[in-house]
Amino acid sequence: MSLPFLSAVRHDGTDWALRHMPLLRETVRRHGAVLAGKRIAMCLHIEPKTAALVALLTEAGAEVTLTGSPGTTQDDTADALRASGTTVYGRRDDTPDRHRHHIDRVLACDPHLLLDNGGDLTVAALEGGGPPHLVGGTEETTTGALRIRALPSPPPFPVVVINDSRLKLLVENEFGVGQSVVQGFMNATNLMLPGARATVVGYGPCGLGVANTLARLGARVSVAETDPYRALEAVMHGHEVGPLDTLLPRTRLLFLATGHPGVVGADQLDALADGTIVAGVGHRAWEVDQAALAARTASIRRYGTAGDERAVHRLSDGREITVLAGTAMINLTAAKGNPIQAMDLGLTLQARSLAAVAALPLAPGAQPVPADVDREIAASLVARLTAD
Ligand SMILES: NC(=O)c1ccc[n+]([C@@H]2O[C@H](COP(=O)([O-])OP(=O)(O)OC[C@H]3O[C@@H](n4cnc5c(N)ncnc54)[C@H](O)[C@@H]3O)[C@@H](O)[C@H]2O)c1
Repeated sequence: MSLPFLSAVRHDGTDWALRHMPLLRETVRRHGAVLAGKRIAMCLHIEPKTAALVALLTEAGAEVTLTGSPGTTQDDTADALRASGTTVYGRRDDTPDRHRHHIDRVLACDPHLLLDNGGDLTVAALEGGGPPHLVGGTEETTTGALRIRALPSPPPFPVVVINDSRLKLLVENEFGVGQSVVQGFMNATNLMLPGARATVVGYGPCGLGVANTLARLGARVSVAETDPYRALEAVMHGHEVGPLDTLLPRTRLLFLATGHPGVVGADQLDALADGTIVAGVGHRAWEVDQAALAARTASIRRYGTAGDERAVHRLSDGREITVLAGTAMINLTAAKGNPIQAMDLGLTLQARSLAAVAALPLAPGAQPVPADVDREIAASLVARLTAD
């Protein structure tokens, strides 16, 4: 399935993704007219599913300017989009400073709409006083939603938080992230999971999905979670639950799924077992206190390639700790991101919400996906999954 937009470059990953994204294709066909002529500033992981969204929006007459998130950009997809005429800023090895520069360049397109991932575009747009033609936008993640809701005053334009959708949390965060993070871990390490002692930190939908996928594959899974209701849910699912510091000495595989900075600080680094491998799930690579790790590191041996690196830190007390891809999201650095069907749903919610922002004067501020939209898409998904 090749759109004229993509004909400049054969990008089989994008063709393949488009073929398996029926909800998104149908949604843009039915609701995309309102996006014709709109400039969309987009910050989303640059990979084939995103390229499929860009292709469909472009076909609908929108003008997309795109950047990715640090550490997750697939350079071949970025190049294919550029060759097809989309303005794309960013490469896999971008630093946080460079990423911030790209955000400013994307906002310079004077967007009508923002499609954001992590709050970077929305926060930068507000710092700059807001692009003159901006009507509103969407935000994909938990991390971005928390950032936007913590602002001293709410945005004066609507921001539909895709992550507030029950549907997204279930299909993408739980089942999609669960499968693809474990796949990324296996790709990165080539290690066996049955019998391995794994700890998942954070039992939100992402952590839950990772823990349950690991357990189904035979790992012995422990969970550290500060929210007692979610900790209870982890117990009910059969996982060992306890304070992180007490779990770490018996852990070999550590998955970080809180979305919060410095969860593994100096005390936790001191408690890690020799040989522990650390993988990131949360949106930002900040859950390990990098300064505390650097202070304990005597030497580093690096395997793999930039962006998909295994860094073996030999600590001054002799222990070895391996950090995968600097704790960037392992499902994007070492696998192909979330499964296509999970992103078909997530990006359908995005496209439908962007169309709602463009079409209606929604109230300003962060708000959930309209309930009727969420329900309608859930019904379409059930119909598709049960039709086979
Ligand atoms: N890798 C991906 O493809 C992908 C996809 C979607 C979301 N995410 C990101 O994954 C992260 C988690 O998403 P979510 O939807 O599960 O979020 P969430 O906020 O619902 O869950 C995070 C959980 O971590 C817990 N927590 C916070 N600090 C903790 C600590 N110090 N110790 C133990 N537990 C702690 C919280 O109580 C919460 O239950 C976010 O950063 C999100 O943006 C990643």
